[in-house]
Amino acid sequence: GLLLAAGTLFLAGGASAQTIDDSALLEQATALFSPIPHMIPKINDNAVTKEKIELGRMLFFDPRLSSSHLLSCNTCHNLAMGGDDNLETSIGHGWQAGPRNAPTVYNAVLNVAQFWDGRAEDLKTQAKGPIQAGVEMNSRPDVVVATLKSMPEYVAHFDRAFPNEDDAVTFDNLARAIEAFEATLLTPASPFDQYLEGNTNAMTEPQKRGLKTFIDTGCIACHSGVNVGGQSYHPFGVVEQPGSDILPPDDKGRFSVTETATDQYVFRAPALRNVARTAPYFHSGRVWDLKQAVAVMGVSQLGEELNAQQVDDIVAFLTALNGEIPETVVPQLPASTADTPRPMP
Ligand code: HEM
Ligand code: HEM
Repeated sequence: GLLLAAGTLFLAGGASAQTIDDSALLEQATALFSPIPHMIPKINDNAVTKEKIELGRMLFFDPRLSSSHLLSCNTCHNLAMGGDDNLETSIGHGWQAGPRNAPTVYNAVLNVAQFWDGRAEDLKTQAKGPIQAGVEMNSRPDVVVATLKSMPEYVAHFDRAFPNEDDAVTFDNLARAIEAFEATLLTPASPFDQYLEGNTNAMTEPQKRGLKTFIDTGCIACHSGVNVGGQSYHPFGVVEQPGSDILPPDDKGRFSVTETATDQYVFRAPALRNVARTAPYFHSGRVWDLKQAVAVMGVSQLGEELNAQQVDDIVAFLTALNGEIPETVVPQLPASTADTPRPMP
């Protein structure tokens, strides 16, 4: 009797392992998501050219954009490590810990706006932030421009990237070049993208079950579209606010941008592309385990205790969001000259 009951239970438990109806799931999924494009998207007010991309790549790797000459964009957005720093919160100038976890730069061009609170409308506006932030690169536009102008090779690169401009080496143009480079940082062809394109063998059964659970439980309310998120703002804690260990009380999120009471503890729902490569999680970086992050979401955003099977399946689905990382050639940067401002530690 007991054995039989156990057997029945096992079958009932295993029922969720029934094969997925691919055509129904695919139809649902293609209505909610779209594949990462293989082509560089058009950017507002900034034509992406080969010359800008090349210059932007140099700037992205150049630590002389920081006052210490030690920190480059790549320090905190390491392209060899998921496009972020895999730290709880970033370490910047003078070893200061910043207040937030660094999001990945991969596919960031596809987000509606930049930063956890959306305070920069696009990547060219964004790029000017960290260079000047005291806890990040701690420099100034005039110092950065003087630094770049001190190296003839840089001047030549700016002239090529911004032809027909008398004085091409400007802080604005630096931001445009970085934006152009970042627009190339797309990670297409993940198993999920291949599935969306009709290859139903591209995802495993657990990944497909996870996709179905992700849709059915309502994660898609905030994480959908091409970037599986990155498009809208929501309270962290729609149903139940996480504890202060995960949601530190001093960071009120989008409230600091809009100063609207209802925007307290509102953050951009992050894109979940490559999320398995970008631990730790949340704007506080307090959660290292993706399973835990998913379980927290269930309780905080949906008011639901997801069971172990659901969590495992969703995590399996999230790993299917790992795309192909584009190859980045490490640029060779011009040597500093006698006119280059010296590092200020
Ligand atoms: C946010 C690029 C330097 C740490 C971002 C975002 C981008 C970006 C695109 C927004 C991503 C998103 O919201 O999805 C750059 C570029 C840099 C640079 C181009 C060089 C000019 C740095 C450095 C650090 C850093 C040196 C660490 C010291 C962070 C952090 C955030 C962020 C913590 C989130 C801040 C917030 O949301 O308030 N960065 N970054 N970044 N970056 Fe950087
Ligand atoms: C953050 C997954 C439902 C809004 C996250 C993160 C994951 C995730 C893994 C952390 C990503 C990172 O730090 O890079 C899920 C799953 C859901 C779900 C699996 C369904 C069970 C929702 C819903 C909403 C939402 C329904 C909106 C009502 C957010 C927001 C954040 C976030 C605002 C950022 C929180 C912060 O750090 O301040 N989600 N999510 N999520 N999600 Fe969800």
